[in-house]
Amino acid sequence: MKAVITGASSGIGKSFVLYLSSLGYDIYAVARSESALKELGSEVATAYTPIALDLSINENCYQLYEILKNEKIDIFINNAGFGVYGSFDSISLERELDMINLNVSAVHILTKLFASKFLPDGSGLIINVASTAGFMMGPLLSSYYATKAYVLRLSEAVDEEVSRKNPNVRVCVLCPGPVCTGFDKSAGVSSSMKGHTPDFVAKYAITKALRGKRIIIPGLSNKLLVMFSRFMPSTILSRINYMIQSTKGR
Ligand SMILES: NC(=O)c1ccc[n+]([C@@H]2O[C@H](COP(=O)([O-])OP(=O)(O)OC[C@H]3O[C@@H](n4cnc5c(N)ncnc54)[C@H](OP(=O)(O)O)[C@@H]3O)[C@@H](O)[C@H]2O)c1
Repeated sequence: MKAVITGASSGIGKSFVLYLSSLGYDIYAVARSESALKELGSEVATAYTPIALDLSINENCYQLYEILKNEKIDIFINNAGFGVYGSFDSISLERELDMINLNVSAVHILTKLFASKFLPDGSGLIINVASTAGFMMGPLLSSYYATKAYVLRLSEAVDEEVSRKNPNVRVCVLCPGPVCTGFDKSAGVSSSMKGHTPDFVAKYAITKALRGKRIIIPGLSNKLLVMFSRFMPSTILSRINYMIQSTKGR
């Protein structure tokens, strides 16, 4: 069994690597930091291939596919992603576009390429990492929330399509709430919210995805948040979210 994890060098991605390796999967670990990937290899019990690539560059997504296209891959996890915190008129457009390239374009390209490979292969599971943010608007993290809405809706729709063609090919979407990783630091957020551990989130996601769950939301409070957001008028929800996010600035 073989699994590919993007954003594998830290946080939830690293936990995916270690948990899937403990289940016996050989690992292809993708991130930019070659040294962090090499270091992680020493903790992995199964066969381990580090692949240092910046996936915010479209060509590198195609390169990743070229490296893997002749392998029988069982699980492909689009996990790499980051956020940009701040008011829409003042945050760096360049950084937002990098984020959109990674959170949206890379996920889109790799979902298309691997879903198209898994259908003739006869099986394969894609897990796309979105967020509870994908269910609502997020003032002060506006473009990040929008990227996660894209990942959520794309994954749901593509799963409906591919699983009709072959029920052994699936696209699941993981929607965590806050998780204790380097995410807040890279987004410029100082969050006071207590989050899940990345190990809990990775194990929960794999367990649910292997059971065929399409939308995976770890934790009761996150499930309630998503339910609440569906019934709340959007103008009120956006005001509440603005107030919550405005407490997170540094
Ligand atoms: N933490 C949370 O509260 C939370 C909540 C909901 C959803 N999520 C989502 O969970 C996913 C993982 O985030 P995390 O919390 O584990 O954050 P993290 O600890 O910052 O990990 C992000 C990973 O993505 C990699 N990465 C960043 N830019 C990349 C690029 N251009 N190309 C390839 N890899 C890149 C990083 O490695 P390198 O720097 O070595 O490239 C790192 O391995 C993200 O999609 C995030 O949006 C996080």
